[in-house]
Amino acid sequence: MIKAVIFDVDGVIIDSEEYTSLSAIELFKNIGIKVNKKDFEPFVGAGEDSYIGEVAKKYGIKLDLESSKKEMYEIYRQLSSGLREGYPKLKAKKGVVELINQLTKRDFKIAVATSADYIKAKINLAAVGFDEDDFDFFISGSNIQRKKPFCDIYTFSALNLGLSPEQCIVIEDSPSGIVSAKNASCACIGVEGTFKRDLLIDSGADLVISNVEDFPIEALINGKLNEIFEQKKDEYLKIKAISKAWEAFNNSYSPYSHFKVGAAIITSTKNIYNGCNVENSSYGGTICAERSAITKAISSEGKIHIDYLVVVSEGKKPAPPCAICLQVINEFASKNTHIILISDSGVINEFVFKELLPHPFNL
Ligand code: THU
Repeated sequence: MIKAVIFDVDGVIIDSEEYTSLSAIELFKNIGIKVNKKDFEPFVGAGEDSYIGEVAKKYGIKLDLESSKKEMYEIYRQLSSGLREGYPKLKAKKGVVELINQLTKRDFKIAVATSADYIKAKINLAAVGFDEDDFDFFISGSNIQRKKPFCDIYTFSALNLGLSPEQCIVIEDSPSGIVSAKNASCACIGVEGTFKRDLLIDSGADLVISNVEDFPIEALINGKLNEIFEQKKDEYLKIKAISKAWEAFNNSYSPYSHFKVGAAIITSTKNIYNGCNVENSSYGGTICAERSAITKAISSEGKIHIDYLVVVSEGKKPAPPCAICLQVINEFASKNTHIILISDSGVINEFVFKELLPHPFNL
């Protein structure tokens, strides 16, 4: 069950992007370089070092990051706190304060995890009337070496909340933040705005909402949101299994047949095991990819049940498991175990097990 909500700051609690890019543009202008908003887009959500560092690289300039960031934060502070004429004070995004209050009232833990440096995170929270102490856990980019999209910031947040990552929902607006949350195994809700819905879904968001106001608090309370996340977890696992099968395919040891095969299974314990064909100069010593994956699984867990099997093979058409493999699969699968066969030419065939082996031998 979900026990905590972890908020990204930029693009979730506040829309800082405009003032962030304005302060970065002004910083570059002060050293005589004209840059534009688009230059910064690829680095949104990845922390300030990349944000200005990568753009400096693009224009072939060497920046002293520390002093440049200091200068930029001062511009940003003036803009966001309403000290510059024509630039209104930053406000919390619609629905944020209400959501935080509701979550606290319902005993959910709340945390903030931002890639931004500590100084900027503080300016942002202060501008919208929050302080780090208002949250059960607060972490900024200053305490994290490997920034988003690495999982570190969310893994560390969950640990500090005393929860498993699966018990935490992350609210993110950027693809790199979503990838970070999913790499940490958290549930993740994407908020549209900085980036379009499709990009957030492609990055792995379990759910995308148009604005924070639409956060499904009722579904969180009555458990419906958990069901959605469970379904998504299964989809995510299948995609991962396919990529693991390809990994094994690339490791195939097949100097005699020159026919590469990779396989991966998802067990009912929700673990993935992969395997490739391993050939031998004494041909009978060859083991197929499917059996290679199955023996790996049993060596790790004991008896398993195969929920899902992926086989990737060379050629125009996908190769079905050989009869020996089918008989071995039968030992650990059910009639309706899902089997997906993929050829490296891009053809995909799907079956349930009983279609491939309608009359298995059973003792
Ligand atoms: N092979 C598999 O890995 N799985 C099958 O189900 C069919 C065959 C491998 C074994 C051998 O290395 C190569 O394909 C050619 O038979």
